[in-house]
Amino acid sequence: MVTTTRLRPAALTAAVALALGVPALAAAQSAPMQPGIAESATITVLKGLTVPQFETEMRHFVQGVGMNCGGCHTRGNFASEDNPKKAIARRMIEMTRALNKKYFPAYVPAEGESTLGRVTCYTCHQGEASPKSAAPPAP
Ligand code: HEC
Ligand code: HEC
Repeated sequence: MVTTTRLRPAALTAAVALALGVPALAAAQSAPMQPGIAESATITVLKGLTVPQFETEMRHFVQGVGMNCGGCHTRGNFASEDNPKKAIARRMIEMTRALNKKYFPAYVPAEGESTLGRVTCYTCHQGEASPKSAAPPAP
C-alpha cells in the first residue's frame, strides 16, 4: 500500500505527547531520558506503553486498517469516545491480544513492530477497513 499519509515521526510524537499531557519537549528529547508512559483515563487497553511505543502502535493501526487518525478519532480530541470506530478498535485490540496470548505466546515483537504480537491488525485487514473472508471469484 502506498502511504501518502506518512507522518513525520517527530511531529507526531510531539502531538501525541501533547494529547497525552506529557510535556512535548521531554518526549521529543532523545536517548538518556526515560520516555514517559502513555497514561490517560481513556487509555483502557493499551496500557504500559511508552509514548513512542504508543505512537508507533497508532501508526500500525493506520497502516493496518487503512484509516487515518480521524478514522477512529474525533478531530482535535484523541481522548474523545464520540467516534464509534474507536470502541470497535478497542475490541479488536483485545481480540488480537487474546489470539496472540493463546496461539503465539512465545513471539517477542522486535523493536518498532506492533507490541500486540505475531498477529497484528495488518494480518487480517491488510490495509483495508473491511477484511476479506474469501478470495475474489476466479476470472
Ligand atoms: C483503528 C483505530 C485507530 C486509529 C486509526 C488511530 N487510533 Fe488512536 N486510539 C485508538 C484507540 C482504540 C485508542 C484507545 C486505546 C485504549 O483504550 O487503550 C486510541 C488512543 C489514542 C490516544 C490517547 C488518547 C487519550 O488520551 O485517551 C492518542 C493520543 C491517539 N490515539 C493518537 C492517534 C494518532 C496520532 C493516530 C494517527 C497516527 C491514531 N491515534 C490513529 C484507535 C485508533
Ligand atoms: C482476526 C482478524 C482480525 C484482526 C487481527 C483485526 N481485525 Fe479488525 N476486523 C476484523 C473483521 C472480520 C472486521 C469486520 C467486522 C464486520 O464485518 O462487521 C473488522 C472490523 C474492524 C473495524 C471496523 C471497520 C469499519 O469500517 O466499520 C475496525 C475499526 C477494526 N477492525 C480495527 C482493527 C484494529 C485496530 C486491529 C488491530 C488492533 C484489528 N482490527 C485487528 C478482523 C480482524
